[in-house]
Amino acid sequence: MSKQNECMTCISGGGLIPEGLLCEYAVDPLGIDTPFPRFSWKVKAHERGDYQTACQVLVSESLDALDEDTGDMWDSGRMETRQSVNVTYSGKPLLSGRTYYWKVLVWNSKGEVSHYSKPARFEMGFLSQDEWKGEWITHSSFMGRPSSPMFRREFIMEKEVARARAYISGLGYYELRINGSKVGDHVLDPGWTDYTKRVLYVTYDVIPYLKQGANVIGVMLGNGWFGSSPQMILKLSIEFVDGTTQSIVSDKDWVVATNDSIVENSIYNGETYDARLEKPGWDMPGYETKSDEWSPPIIAEPPGGIMVSQLFEPIKVAQDITPISVNSPRPGIYVYDLGQNISGWARLKVSGRAGTRVVMRFAELIYEDGTINRENLRTAAATDVYILKGEGIEVYEPRFTYHGFRYIQVEGFPWEPSLDSITGRVVRSSVEQTGKFRCSNELINKIQQNAVWTEANNLHSIPTDCSQRDERLGWLNDMTVRAEEAVYNFHLARLYSKWVDDISDTQGPKTGAITDTAPFARYGRRPADPVASSYLVVPWLVYLHYGDRRILEKHYEGMKKWEAYLGRSVDDYIVNYSYYGDWSPPLTESVRGSIGAGAVSATTPGILMSTGFYYYNAILMSKMAGVLGKLEEEREYISLAERIKEAFNRRFFNRETNQYATGSQSCHVFPLFLGLVPEESKAAVIEHLVNDIVEKHNGHLTTGNLCSKYIMDVLTEVGRADVAYVLATQTTYPSWGYMVSKGATTMWERWEYVTGGWQTGMASHDHPMIATISAWFYKALGGILVDEEGPGIGRIIIKTHILEDLRFVECSLNTVRGLVQSNWKRYDGGLTMDIVIPWNASARVCVPVGEEGLGKAIIKEGDRIIWKDGKYTGGVPGIMDGTTNGQYVTFEVGSGTYHFECSL
Ligand code: BGC
Repeated sequence: MSKQNECMTCISGGGLIPEGLLCEYAVDPLGIDTPFPRFSWKVKAHERGDYQTACQVLVSESLDALDEDTGDMWDSGRMETRQSVNVTYSGKPLLSGRTYYWKVLVWNSKGEVSHYSKPARFEMGFLSQDEWKGEWITHSSFMGRPSSPMFRREFIMEKEVARARAYISGLGYYELRINGSKVGDHVLDPGWTDYTKRVLYVTYDVIPYLKQGANVIGVMLGNGWFGSSPQMILKLSIEFVDGTTQSIVSDKDWVVATNDSIVENSIYNGETYDARLEKPGWDMPGYETKSDEWSPPIIAEPPGGIMVSQLFEPIKVAQDITPISVNSPRPGIYVYDLGQNISGWARLKVSGRAGTRVVMRFAELIYEDGTINRENLRTAAATDVYILKGEGIEVYEPRFTYHGFRYIQVEGFPWEPSLDSITGRVVRSSVEQTGKFRCSNELINKIQQNAVWTEANNLHSIPTDCSQRDERLGWLNDMTVRAEEAVYNFHLARLYSKWVDDISDTQGPKTGAITDTAPFARYGRRPADPVASSYLVVPWLVYLHYGDRRILEKHYEGMKKWEAYLGRSVDDYIVNYSYYGDWSPPLTESVRGSIGAGAVSATTPGILMSTGFYYYNAILMSKMAGVLGKLEEEREYISLAERIKEAFNRRFFNRETNQYATGSQSCHVFPLFLGLVPEESKAAVIEHLVNDIVEKHNGHLTTGNLCSKYIMDVLTEVGRADVAYVLATQTTYPSWGYMVSKGATTMWERWEYVTGGWQTGMASHDHPMIATISAWFYKALGGILVDEEGPGIGRIIIKTHILEDLRFVECSLNTVRGLVQSNWKRYDGGLTMDIVIPWNASARVCVPVGEEGLGKAIIKEGDRIIWKDGKYTGGVPGIMDGTTNGQYVTFEVGSGTYHFECSL
């Protein structure tokens, strides 16, 4: 009897069905190259407070076997575990290129067993480097010349295909084509890495593109981040229905030509495309490859890195934007306004005579006369040029570049263009937007919207700092604070896992030093500024939000080395170097003439920030050591943290004045955030901080990229969320609201509105490092906090702050366990809270009643009173307990949907 049948008797019929099956965070992924993939599922349950007590996973080589409830690769048996996220495969060795099928059943808190889920599958990529049979090929004439090659290979396929996969990497960027069609919908692929360390390859199911008879594979390459001699590697594996196979690999049997139509391509400068020089049919069977154009490729030197499957969300066109206006500030010049700063490019629709040259220049700003202002792009030319072939309506969009822009200035259009001659194409890593936040304050909604746009515009296979100028790098200092906002808004488990690999690729094997940017390119230094704690913060967030322990295991030693590196850069536990510190505070607080056009703080010592992060790392290391069961190291890090704390206070804290260093906001915020302030001095330090904000700066902050996050967290934590709210809703300089008042649709790099002058070298208008306030909206206003005791959303805290004029908040996260929602609404004399906790999770729901409400509040859930006369009255399914905590009545709840009503 199959296991399923054995269990039939105990099936509850309660509607327990595992669904949403993911392998390595993806639906039915191709190209898994870990021998131990991880599985996750969700369960839609009808009863509150339910959770998983056990599960059984079956993995099989065939769907038929799985249908019979046989796990011929892995039958986990009944595993007594609550884990439903990232359960690690531990069956027979998986083989490269094979497809496996899996399903799961679960037991719940009542001992009932579900039906098996519907089957899901995953397919392996290459488990060993030797399985890559193709050669890296290039074109001799590309050495040192900015251009784009095109490769072609014709082959005959005679039998019916059962399975066909193309594995490809093309550096910098590739476009794969088969029989005249682009394969898949990735753009700017593969993701950027240090190619000497790791090269990403992409797996495609190409059955839909192949046909019996003659077939052609074509590959176009662009420079991307690789430089001006692009090269590619490809393997096509075909299995026929009769069991035979055919394989095509990149080698000397291909032919290559210059893609003359792509005259120039560069990420920063743009693309020039001459449609007259296209080679129509070059990627179709029967095309004649003239020997003056086409020649065999040359075998290129491999880039050096190991081949790794690209398992994170590729860059795609995410959205189209119709311009809101087009104006003609001067004859022949048309400026389109998308109404939104985006990253991507424009699709041009035009008709005219062959040879007509349409120039599109991209910008974030315009001058008063209506023409574009590109002073902040530095050397990036950000210009796409299309030269018409003169054949009716022509539609063009570039392949191997992207821009950060709101405005497009079009010149050379053959007639007066209309609004629909241009479409904005939003291009970014296709990660899912998982967070939603809305409230009754429209300014906050606009700030949140700007934050989401800014984050989205800066996801291009790495988290970039900006999207417009000649930079677009993964700055670790910014990411130390930005990552939390990002994981509230987007699903970043996979992209961040990849980026942490990028950081680890920069690490000096002996010294342990990492670099300021990852991949390390163009700007930044080695060793990184000690504020680069994102190397630890990001894995920790991936662990907390996505239940990913593997990222901790994989990088623990590297993180440890970085902390040890800092440990060798200290004098009496004070880290002795800093470059950026609390970067880019308001100009009034900065060192003029410093690097970054006055972005170094004059009021917050860099060494204070560096040492604070040395401490923060020690705390994070201790937590990670604890998670990984390294108890000795956990203790060592706690004791290291203690010693740094003492030294920090010795050096920076004045016990007489109760002031840290210069007494700037950041000088107080950071030690408060870290928990460094001696208990007896805390109230005084908080008072200094609040006075500085409220009185000295009339409700404004003076913080830079790092402390502008921590200031919001600290004020909330110490019971002054009201002051944080003043900062959040401030509309005069410097503030997020000030940006909105100036028409910003994304966050700026500077608190100043810079459109020209000496600061423009560092004045991106699409910079996520101070979009961090978005996390505060989720945490403080929505009240959704992840609890370190229940990583992977196993435990959540809902603790909202009902502030000032706020009437309602609607806030939700689509998490690895399902929807978490915290909606609240105020009415005269009371408050309602609509809370959703996903299956297999639990939460502490804190109902804000205020001090005077502790005794007199009456709280109902649905129709039942659960709190009265200062006591928990009980008896409601899913709610385990109720107590008071500060100004909150706190309920322990299980999964489910709850409607709380609190009258005061
Ligand atoms: C980046 C910033 C970064 C800084 C550090 C800038 O060029 O855009 O985001 O924090 O460099 O120096």
